[in-house]
Amino acid sequence: MSPDELQIWLNHFEYHAEHPRSIPAGLDDLLSADERALIASSIATFQLGEQSEGSTLTCAAQRFACAHRIPSLVRIMELFIREEQRHAALLRSFMDDHHIPLKSRDWTDQLFRRARRLAGLELYLCVLITAELIGNVYYRALAVATGCQRLQVLCRTLVADELVHVAFESQLLLALRAARPLGSQFTVRLIHRGFLAGTAWVVWWTHRSLLRHSGYDARTFVRLCLAQYDFYLEPIKVTLAPTSVP
Ligand SMILES: [Fe+2]
Ligand SMILES: [Fe+2]
Repeated sequence: MSPDELQIWLNHFEYHAEHPRSIPAGLDDLLSADERALIASSIATFQLGEQSEGSTLTCAAQRFACAHRIPSLVRIMELFIREEQRHAALLRSFMDDHHIPLKSRDWTDQLFRRARRLAGLELYLCVLITAELIGNVYYRALAVATGCQRLQVLCRTLVADELVHVAFESQLLLALRAARPLGSQFTVRLIHRGFLAGTAWVVWWTHRSLLRHSGYDARTFVRLCLAQYDFYLEPIKVTLAPTSVP
């Protein structure tokens, strides 16, 4: 990634740190008892996932930035972590207002955290982007599961931020992968895609009541997660329409 591209990302995250997204006041905020029962445990798991001090990411980014002489990366990651913490706070505020208990641990969250600690920046980004791609599909499903306007707007707000996060992470990840030999790039892509499919299936299983209610069976959910992966991380396949020669 060039210094100019990093500067564009830095500008983006600085702007959003100064102008954090908020949920407009006055939205309809009614959550029925049935809806509450349907989403409570599920939303608490995702709230936990958004909440991180980011120390592993900060260390990995510092080491990488130092080795490649790109100090702005550390600042970008710092602002990125702050934005994730903002997501956790927005979800917590909604949960508090609806008396939905917070979770302090969840086995799927623990797995993601452990996997992220395994190695350097590239592996961390692989695990992180996997969670974010799945999160994008999940938040859309959550918005469908409720008639509560505040929760719908909250989900759309999170997705809007996450789409930018995924764009940044995928650009960085593709730049890191490009430094590998071609054969290794292919293998890494294959393993990552398989990891995403497996993780998406586990997420569907652990959140199946809500996801089924929103119309997502396992196949649809995994397919949509993989489509997100292909959109951001697979080489672009451009097909040109045949031109007629006069
Ligand atoms: Fe987030
Ligand atoms: Fe994110």
